[in-house]
Amino acid sequence: MIQLRDICKSWDGGKTFAVKNVSLEVGEGKVLALLGGSGSGKSTTVKMINRLIEPTSGSILIGGEDITHQDPVLLRRRIGYVFQSIGLLPHMTVADNVTLLLKLEGVPAEQRKERATELLNMVDLPAETFAQRLPSELSGGQRQRVGFARALAAEPKVMLLDEPFGALDPVTRDTLQIEFQRIQKSLGLTAVIVTHDMAEALLLADMIAVMHLGKVLRIGTPRELLQDPGDDYVAKLLETPRRHGELVQELSS
Ligand SMILES: Nc1ncnc2c1ncn2[C@@H]1O[C@H](COP(=O)(O)OP(=O)(O)OP(=O)(O)O)[C@@H](O)[C@H]1O
Ligand SMILES: [Mg+2]
Repeated sequence: MIQLRDICKSWDGGKTFAVKNVSLEVGEGKVLALLGGSGSGKSTTVKMINRLIEPTSGSILIGGEDITHQDPVLLRRRIGYVFQSIGLLPHMTVADNVTLLLKLEGVPAEQRKERATELLNMVDLPAETFAQRLPSELSGGQRQRVGFARALAAEPKVMLLDEPFGALDPVTRDTLQIEFQRIQKSLGLTAVIVTHDMAEALLLADMIAVMHLGKVLRIGTPRELLQDPGDDYVAKLLETPRRHGELVQELSS
């Protein structure tokens, strides 16, 4: 469904590379996690998939079609995305934020209202309570859910998420991760999710690509990575969830 072929991105005319020779594939209905430290090129990679950033070289295909020459605005309407830097519009109600894209597409108000209700209920924000609120009247986790509902509004087949559950308390994060998983599976979404949390990647992803200094160090299923990290850096990333797991087991036995 998504193919990255030998993608490079340089911000300084080729002196240094934020992303270097990255090739990735995500099958239909699958979730790929891009995992890695700060500055490793995760956000740059995911933003090239909907052309918020143009690659320096390489090609990207979605559903077999090269997107390099597609209208970026139309492309972004087909792909749902939840990026932390792209927030909700502060002067619009939650319902209007969620269905903004549908308004741009000329969907009549009555239908938009119905769809907003459906989407808000899907992310567990009952429409009767939340639809008419402003983003400033929500908690951070609730805002993130609205962002997620908005990304689902145009029924995308592909979804890009850049650290969607970062900066949330652990209980809210856990709830949202499970909700995401349920919605992703029930809609058969193909997703790329950026995270620096190995536990999150292990939980949500079918495939994990570990990035370091702009390159993909290792790619595999959660099971493959756990059984054979294949790289010191990957092994180090796996240490934390492992240690936590052991500690919890020890304390509860
Ligand atoms: N617009 C830009 N202009 C110049 N350099 C940039 C730009 N955006 C990102 N970079 C650089 O590209 C590299 C990769 O950045 P990127 O945002 O992809 O990292 P990341 O893996 O998402 O990190 P984080 O976990 O901190 O979000 C970094 O060195 C960053 O400074
Ligand atoms: Mg980032």
